[in-house]
Amino acid sequence: MLIKRSPNGIELPFSSEITSRAVYESRRSFIKQIAAGAIGSAALLEMANRVAFAQGVNPKLAARLNPSYSALDKQTPYKDATSYNNYYEFGTDKSEPAMYANTLKTRPWTVSIEGEVKKPMILDIDALLKLAPLEERVYRLRCVEGWSMVIPWIGYSFSEIIKKVEPTGNAKYVEFVTLADKKQMPGVGSRVLQWPYTEGLRIDEANHPLALLTLGMYGETLANQNGAPVRMVLPWKYGFKSAKSIVKIRFVKEQPRTSWNLSAPNEYGFYSNVNPEVDHPRWSQASERRIGEDGFLARKRKTLMFNGYADVAPLYAGMDLKKFF
Ligand code: MTE
Repeated sequence: MLIKRSPNGIELPFSSEITSRAVYESRRSFIKQIAAGAIGSAALLEMANRVAFAQGVNPKLAARLNPSYSALDKQTPYKDATSYNNYYEFGTDKSEPAMYANTLKTRPWTVSIEGEVKKPMILDIDALLKLAPLEERVYRLRCVEGWSMVIPWIGYSFSEIIKKVEPTGNAKYVEFVTLADKKQMPGVGSRVLQWPYTEGLRIDEANHPLALLTLGMYGETLANQNGAPVRMVLPWKYGFKSAKSIVKIRFVKEQPRTSWNLSAPNEYGFYSNVNPEVDHPRWSQASERRIGEDGFLARKRKTLMFNGYADVAPLYAGMDLKKFF
């Protein structure tokens, strides 16, 4: 992964504090078109979302806090969680996703669930939002680069999807395929990774209740730069396993190839569990810096095995985690 040790050089104004000319104009044309009866309800929603995004306001998403799955750590400020991102489809610099992801069209959006399942389905984003009760879960997310955040995500366990599609006995792994559309995503023209960005899990990992199919954050739908409209969050694994803007979920027999593993197999293993005892070949994984909390001069905090989510340990019983890194 490209490492930038310097802080995010660009201080973006908090977008809700400004009303740009573009927002002002899109609001005016929006109102005119409604008055003229020229747009249908899907188009209305799409436009409302675009105006909301341009204003830095995402639609609210109600969810009940699940305390059993929530960390008590101080939460990362929204501004930091949405302006320091890895989303290579929008550029490799941490500040680029926040600057360019407004071109991502998140409606209409469907996710195709296919492969070794008895009931393959194509679910619209609204159907996904209603598939199971939404929960808020405050998870730590530790990036392989040595920084971490604490975010109140909204979603439900991926196991709800597994129950619905009924995998066959052949389904040993789950592959997550994400959107790769050059028209919307300037980074997809680059050769920094193989597109589409693809990730994978063993089926028992995907079935673990901590694996969160994520549709929102901070009481709202996901910000585009954080993987709208739907992503995974796997808090015991390095952040790159948590694929953003998913369009396809495949249940498969063989371990799927994944984008980072294809790009540097000796650096990014299939499992990529947070493990302070297994260094990245180019740096230590023993400690981390909490974004928005630990300044560059502060002592880094210790990284915990499985990022502190010891519940997952039985998934790896008897495995050599140095070999299966
Ligand atoms: N998903 C896609 N499609 N493209 C990406 O570049 N980056 C990954 C992961 N998911 C990435 C992705 C990495 S390296 C990290 S650390 C997390 O997203 C960052 O998630 P966040 O921006 O919400 O903190």
